[in-house]
Amino acid sequence: MELTANETVAATLQVLRDPAGIPSHPVVFQVLMVFTWVFHMLFVNITLGSALLSLYAFQHRQNRHWNQLSQGMTKAAKVSVSMLIVLGVAPLLFTQVIYDPQWYSSNVLSAAWAIGFIFTLILGYSSWFVFYFKNHDGVKNSAIWWGIFGLAMFVLDGFIMHVLSYQALLPEQWLSWYSADGQADMSGTGLHAYQPGRFLFFMAMSITVLGAFLSAYAHYYKVREDKEHHYLTFVNRLGRKFTFAGLLMQSVTFVWWLFDLPEHLQALQSPLSWGILLFMAVFAAIIKGKQSREMPASYFSLAMAFGLIALIGIFREALRIHYMLPFDYDITDYKVMEDIPSTALFFMTLIGVGGLVGGFFLTAIYKAGRTQGMYQASKQVSQLGSAAVGIMIGWIAVFFLTGIWVWLHNV
Ligand code: HEM
Repeated sequence: MELTANETVAATLQVLRDPAGIPSHPVVFQVLMVFTWVFHMLFVNITLGSALLSLYAFQHRQNRHWNQLSQGMTKAAKVSVSMLIVLGVAPLLFTQVIYDPQWYSSNVLSAAWAIGFIFTLILGYSSWFVFYFKNHDGVKNSAIWWGIFGLAMFVLDGFIMHVLSYQALLPEQWLSWYSADGQADMSGTGLHAYQPGRFLFFMAMSITVLGAFLSAYAHYYKVREDKEHHYLTFVNRLGRKFTFAGLLMQSVTFVWWLFDLPEHLQALQSPLSWGILLFMAVFAAIIKGKQSREMPASYFSLAMAFGLIALIGIFREALRIHYMLPFDYDITDYKVMEDIPSTALFFMTLIGVGGLVGGFFLTAIYKAGRTQGMYQASKQVSQLGSAAVGIMIGWIAVFFLTGIWVWLHNV
């Protein structure tokens, strides 16, 4: 019996799955994938937004406030890149577990770019570091080129990520990309598909998140005497403007993205699409209100921006599910080889080690940043630190003892 084109693609996707199966229910991985991607995206947006602003502020550094802001944002971008890299690993691992046929095929088809991604990221990060070291009072104008190159590399990396994600959604086209005129192209140098509306939407989100970040920054430093009130008011006002402008740009690019989607996805009829548009409209209206009433800085915009990224994370995943429907690709029928101990260890590590060690670092950094001069940890923070060290020791012990126990059982 002759297979239809979609059935052939469906069969290909099935054989590309890992025959060893996965250790827990696929939905567990799906939820973790979306959840961790939200944090990745938050820091992607903070990086791109603060890097762009630091370059703009650098050009206006004759003014005291812009100078201070340029130095502050250069530092924020530097820290944020490391966060986005670390937080990108988690969704990458989860994608590879449930969408391995799509992710690996897309990566192999553009292998030169997938590998080049790492080098351009290293170059971009190194260049940004040079800009960071140079960007102090009395810096020469030419230093900006280090920053421009760094930001250009980050945007290029975002674009590569976008292409890899998007190509993964189009399995019906893989073969034509691989052998355009019947000739196999093994080079992996092509970037075969991209969606401008979708990519620009993520870029525009950097402006929204930057604005939210600035308002949070102004609120955070309110308690520090060395941060002038005028400066923080200036930062907060700027933040509101950016959030509003970013939301406008996001609305336009979101509609563009929706109109670019294939009809069978019915994205224009989806309540989620309308929900996102509504969320952005309400967010923008609140920001306008706060702007006109000169409301003080707060963490509100950052919390809203986080909510928006979470909605987008869910939307992205809903799209992927629908893109895969014609090929009968449903993650819930992935072969499961239930492994309860490893799943339990994973969640215990996430909650125990992640919660305590992460919690300790976040608390200490948060409090230290709000303290002028030397920070002295309170009794509770010290106890949290001791608990974090204790749980790490416990974790290492469990890790080795489990290994030794398994090994002894198999000799
Ligand atoms: C400057 C560096 C980076 C930027 C600007 C960036 C930006 C982006 C963007 C815009 C997306 C969404 C693409 C789309 O849906 O169209 C994305 C997705 C993603 N990024 Fe990054 N990223 C960067 C680095 C990384 C790194 C280092 C990792 C992993 C270690 C990573 C892992 C991921 C993953 C797993 C996804 C989702 C893929 C999927 O679900 O198909 N990213 N990134």
